[in-house]
Amino acid sequence: MSDVKIAFDGQSLITPDSIAATVFSTSVDATDKDLALARAEMALHLRVAEQQFEQKTAVGQIMLRLLTGLHEIRNRFSPKVWEQLIPVAQNHAIARHFHEDPFTRWSFEKPRGYSGDAGLLDFIYGHPSVQPMLDAASPMGKEVHAFTSQSPACVAVRERRDLLAQFVDDVASSRGGEAEILTIAAGHLREGSMSQALKDKAIKRWIALDQDPMSVGAVASEFAGTAVEAVNGSVRTVLTRAQTLGTFDFVYAAGLYDYLADEVAIKLSQRCLQMLKPNGTFLFANFSQEVPDDGYMETFMNWALLLRSEEDMWRIMRATTEGLDVECSLRFGQNKNIVYGIIRKLS
Ligand SMILES: C[S@@+](CC[C@H](N)C(=O)[O-])C[C@H]1O[C@@H](n2cnc3c(N)ncnc32)[C@H](O)[C@@H]1O
Repeated sequence: MSDVKIAFDGQSLITPDSIAATVFSTSVDATDKDLALARAEMALHLRVAEQQFEQKTAVGQIMLRLLTGLHEIRNRFSPKVWEQLIPVAQNHAIARHFHEDPFTRWSFEKPRGYSGDAGLLDFIYGHPSVQPMLDAASPMGKEVHAFTSQSPACVAVRERRDLLAQFVDDVASSRGGEAEILTIAAGHLREGSMSQALKDKAIKRWIALDQDPMSVGAVASEFAGTAVEAVNGSVRTVLTRAQTLGTFDFVYAAGLYDYLADEVAIKLSQRCLQMLKPNGTFLFANFSQEVPDDGYMETFMNWALLLRSEEDMWRIMRATTEGLDVECSLRFGQNKNIVYGIIRKLS
């Protein structure tokens, strides 16, 4: 990974190592006793799953039991203990079954060199581009995928795409064809094809900014001839004003704050508010602490995220908006796996 060194500071590629320091940071040390107990419990869960695979138990049943067990261990022990258990699961023989799922394998192998790339998200969206990989998967891989693709976190991400398209459409209809929108960390901008306003040419300008040139290229060709303008840029370039982007009626980021430490999250949010027109809206989404598949994601997918509570979100919004004339609100998606912070600029 040394050739893709970028830090966990908003300019950077998101690697498991770069975010572990934040995700697993705690003042509580791992005691030998806790560690031994947690290791024993992890070994037991993995062994039971192994036996169930040998006995040809239904894959969904094996996974549900294991995911629940991993989630419980993760929540019960300190992050420092959990961090040491991750390689135990990753190096266990049953990992090979999960890696037959192209989605789990993609996340684990990180073909673009960082976690949570837009290609990975396309598995969640069931985008046609991933279908050949799913078709080529083994029967085991297909069964694992039938489970992983329906996980609560994936359901919440699909809902997030739909909610974002709805936000865009609502902003567009309130601005009478003049709406200007900025998406930060746009990935493949899959919400773009769900937006009626974009189809109806009712948006003036929609900047889709991402740090990955491959994703930027994909957006540029998919949305050629529309109001969408794909821009190669990062949190860093936004913060340092390296690009002149202008002002917007709606600025949002989804699938980004899950990787940003509070300090960067607050700075980015402040900058986003500065780019808002009066009555404009800024929205940021974050996975919540309700995600039941967090243990599976951090082990077999090697995909760690900063899960945030309601209070964590409010802390970011309070620090962002101190002294500003704004209205802040918080909402959850239907299964509460994703939480949305929404800030409306009043003047
Ligand atoms: C989980 S994907 C989300 C993509 C899209 N927003 C969605 O919801 O499908 C995360 C995206 O963040 C981008 N990203 C990661 N770090 C970034 C940074 N520092 N600046 C800009 N984009 C970044 C990645 O390239 C990737 O496309």
